[in-house]
Amino acid sequence: MAKGFYISKTVGVVGIMVGAAAVATIITLSVLYSQEKAKNNEVKPTEGTTMTTTTTTAAPTTAPSNEAWDSYRLPDTLLPDTYDVTLWPRLKPDNRGIYIFTGNSSVVFKCMKETDMILIHSNKLNLTTAPTLTALGSTPAPTIKTHWMQVTTQYLVIQLNDNLKVGESYELFTEFLGELADDLSGFYRSVYQEDGQEKVVATSQMHPTYARKTFPCFDEPAMKAVFHITVLHERGTVALSNGIEIETVNTTVDGTAVTITRFEPTPRMSSYLLALVVMFTVLPVFAVQIRIWARRKAVTDGHCAYALNLTGPILQFFEDYYKVPYPLSKSDQIALPDFYFGAMENWGLVTYRETYLFYDPLISSNANKKKTATLIAHELAHMWFGNLVTLKWWNEVWLNEGFATYVSYLGADYAEPTWHLKDLIILDDVHKVFAVDALASSRPLSSKEEDITRPEQISEVFDTISYSKVREQQHSFLILGGVRFLIHVKLMLCGHFQAVHTNGTVLLPMTVGEIMDRWVLQMGFPVVTINTATGQLSQKHFLLDPESVVDVPSQFDYEWIVPVNWMKSGVEQTPVWLLERITQSDDRHKHSNEDGGGDWVLLNLNLTGYYRVNYDTENWERILNQLNSNHQAVPDINRAQIVDDAFNLARAKMIPISLALNTTKFLSQEMAYLPWQSALNNLDYFYLMFDQTDIYESMQAYLRKQITPLFEHFRNITTDWTEVPDGHTDQYNQVNAIRVACSTGVDGCQNLTAEWFTQWMQHPEQNPIHPNLRSTVYCSAVAAGGAKEWDFAWEMLQTASIASEADKLMSALACTKDTGLLERYLTFTLDPMKIRKQDATSVIVQIAGNVEGRSLAWNFTTLNWRYIFTEYGVGSFSFAKLISGITQTFSTQYQLDQLLQFKEENADVGFGAASSALDQAIEKTRANMKWVSENQREIRDWFRAETA
Ligand SMILES: *[C@@H]1O[C@H](CO)[C@@H](O)[C@H](O)[C@H]1NC(C)=O
Ligand SMILES: *[C@@H]1O[C@H](CO)[C@@H](O)[C@H](O)[C@H]1NC(C)=O
Ligand SMILES: *[C@@H]1O[C@H](CO)[C@@H](O)[C@H](O)[C@H]1NC(C)=O
Ligand SMILES: *[C@@H]1O[C@H](CO)[C@@H](O)[C@H](O)[C@H]1NC(C)=O
Ligand SMILES: *[C@@H]1O[C@H](CO)[C@@H](O)[C@H](O)[C@H]1NC(C)=O
Ligand SMILES: [Zn+2]
Repeated sequence: MAKGFYISKTVGVVGIMVGAAAVATIITLSVLYSQEKAKNNEVKPTEGTTMTTTTTTAAPTTAPSNEAWDSYRLPDTLLPDTYDVTLWPRLKPDNRGIYIFTGNSSVVFKCMKETDMILIHSNKLNLTTAPTLTALGSTPAPTIKTHWMQVTTQYLVIQLNDNLKVGESYELFTEFLGELADDLSGFYRSVYQEDGQEKVVATSQMHPTYARKTFPCFDEPAMKAVFHITVLHERGTVALSNGIEIETVNTTVDGTAVTITRFEPTPRMSSYLLALVVMFTVLPVFAVQIRIWARRKAVTDGHCAYALNLTGPILQFFEDYYKVPYPLSKSDQIALPDFYFGAMENWGLVTYRETYLFYDPLISSNANKKKTATLIAHELAHMWFGNLVTLKWWNEVWLNEGFATYVSYLGADYAEPTWHLKDLIILDDVHKVFAVDALASSRPLSSKEEDITRPEQISEVFDTISYSKVREQQHSFLILGGVRFLIHVKLMLCGHFQAVHTNGTVLLPMTVGEIMDRWVLQMGFPVVTINTATGQLSQKHFLLDPESVVDVPSQFDYEWIVPVNWMKSGVEQTPVWLLERITQSDDRHKHSNEDGGGDWVLLNLNLTGYYRVNYDTENWERILNQLNSNHQAVPDINRAQIVDDAFNLARAKMIPISLALNTTKFLSQEMAYLPWQSALNNLDYFYLMFDQTDIYESMQAYLRKQITPLFEHFRNITTDWTEVPDGHTDQYNQVNAIRVACSTGVDGCQNLTAEWFTQWMQHPEQNPIHPNLRSTVYCSAVAAGGAKEWDFAWEMLQTASIASEADKLMSALACTKDTGLLERYLTFTLDPMKIRKQDATSVIVQIAGNVEGRSLAWNFTTLNWRYIFTEYGVGSFSFAKLISGITQTFSTQYQLDQLLQFKEENADVGFGAASSALDQAIEKTRANMKWVSENQREIRDWFRAETA
């Protein structure tokens, strides 16, 4: 297993040459990269299946003293080999009212360096007997002097009377008891209702550091071992784990009737990938070796059918792609009622939030469907990359997640080939990474191993639930940041660059390692500028705020080695490498208007490189002329990218804002989704800034003019709205057409949505609105309607049986223009019987997103801050989101004063998790004021001229 992934350079290169599985080459490159770095550091890369790009062994971070048990990192004295773990979760509380589990574990480990101490992770476990140590070799094991729990560093410390012998194996046996708490970590309990009864599920989340909360273990990703799992469980329940069930017997233990299930031993793997589930009445839906598990009702309603349909093809795709068979004998996926993450890639038993695994063709939209497909593909991609090949330490998680994110598009694309998912990665992921990475506060991808050692630091790396700005950035950075690395790898592999010579030599301007380092070890990305008058190419670190100061020095001085592919008037040219800050003039890239007039030059075709592009004014004009005359000569992705680059360059003051706005003119002829969505994303900010100013009307008129042909296009191809277009992205764009047409007042749009909604009101049991269109139709109908429509939507919300439908209605209620209703809706957020606490924040923020509700939401929040803050608990994650949500349109001195006053008046109450969000809101308001004052006139003139 291990060997397969240390593909030699030659094998890897052959792989590239025949254009075979890009993944092999990516892994190869990653490994080459790590080997080169290793060479530079004169340290051998780690052997075995653990992959690493960090090679120096970190000095352990130490707590106050220098004792080994005060270090958060395990010493290198012992290596685990196998575990034999038996666990017994109790699904009913004990006489103290506590849910517990009991268990025992034997771990066999080998002594690598002489030591008289065993350090093994253990957290919140009570030992019920003294640990025992046996030698597996001929020399007897040393006796145990003393043992204790080191709570801070989460160890069971065992001191011995003599040294363990190097090369010998030993077995440590422990018996323990822990709480099966409802804390979503380790072995925990989840609860749901079925047929009026409460059902308890015992389930697990070991990643990243909670296996140690389930049994004592060497809980670091590189400490791989084979796990033999046995579960005792109540008769009538099902037990699942990573391996397939190999034995099930009914027996009686301590007077209690139980079933004992034993599982096939796992492959050698990290402890964070273990999984255990004990559940009543779960039903499987299965194909051979593929099982989907869920609550009985969800299965009988058919909500798991789509997941089952997808899994087979996706696994098959990855087997071909990785050229390695699926490593286990079965694949289980289970939906859980309570789950912290979106999903977790436990090897062979993937766990999901219910919302993401379930799909109902009659209720779920195609966006819901896409989420299910890409998430399943993401988790299954980890079955190989992440689980079979594992990163040595958590600082390299960006590679793991970035890679899985990237290949999830390929896997889902294979299962749903008509969706063109590979193109959507641009909007869904790359633009998000660009946004974060263009800030001076961004950071390099790779952090040092010693910077992430404590459990809370490790968790922070993965925190997907926290919505505070900083955390959100960190998250998108990690998950998506790998994408930037991979885009480059992919590009370098393109034969276009003649990177690989036919004789097997890699022809790159520098070594892989030297190129990679610039993308991995420094933050941000460049903007590449071509001056077509001189033929010069140049690069510069791209920062959204040109006045911001980067205080992180880079050894590469923020210069990159940039692969540049390009076309001239629609014809692809030989790509070049940009190696320096600015090149010499080059006639090949020179193109002035005198040489014949019409030739336009376009760089970064299909956004295969991770950089933005700027041009000289003449070339911008030639591109715009091309877009306005025949936009299809420019690839779809580049049409979207030209718009996004232009708006961001304008933001960074590199081009005038009117030039950015000019890139939206061709949209009146555009029917494709990517360019439209890119433009709408960028125009959103204009709406936030100007929707209460005199620019609003001309902005509306302009967008109405641009969207009308799209609206008519969809009316035609859907035979007067009686069908839904076939194409996946056309379906997205149909939603855009209706949403924008209705909000800008295109003739016939509001009548259309009102009519559908009225039909539904007349027959509430028969919703005639297509699932794709529900969000936008509900909102439009509630906005155009009055109390009758609002009350109906409220009533439907009470009876909605599926979370995704309830979410759509909850958002729609915030769309009304009736301030009385908005005020009523706001008060509902303080009544948990009407709006659950978990939803209160998003309702308030959605009301603030409505022009009519903006000041209502602000006044409501500030007046009730004291109450909300105490009632909803300090540390709740939604406060930051609340503050940033209700202030996102702030752009006047008056609003700034209000914010400052709010901060002052509530200083005694405090802002908890929202403190930094409040400071950011103040900063953001100042930045908005500046942007508005600098651009307002030009923008007003532009929209007036366009709609005159
Ligand atoms: C573990 O022991 C501590 C201290 O005796 C006790 O407070 C705790 O309740 C025990 N845990 C469980 C799950 O019984
Ligand atoms: C164990 O008992 C359960 C419930 O009583 C029964 O459904 C199951 O078939 C039994 N299993 C075996 C292996 O006897
Ligand atoms: C699953 O596949 C079957 C057979 O191809 C098909 O009839 C069914 O509609 C699919 N279900 C979903 C939800 O895609
Ligand atoms: C392969 O070809 C390149 C370019 O012609 C040359 O520089 C290199 O030495 C060759 N390598 C081998 C191993 O023949
Ligand atoms: C860009 O991507 C599209 C579809 O994804 C593809 O058809 C086209 O050939 C690509 N063009 C270039 C120049 O790579
Ligand atoms: Zn992942």
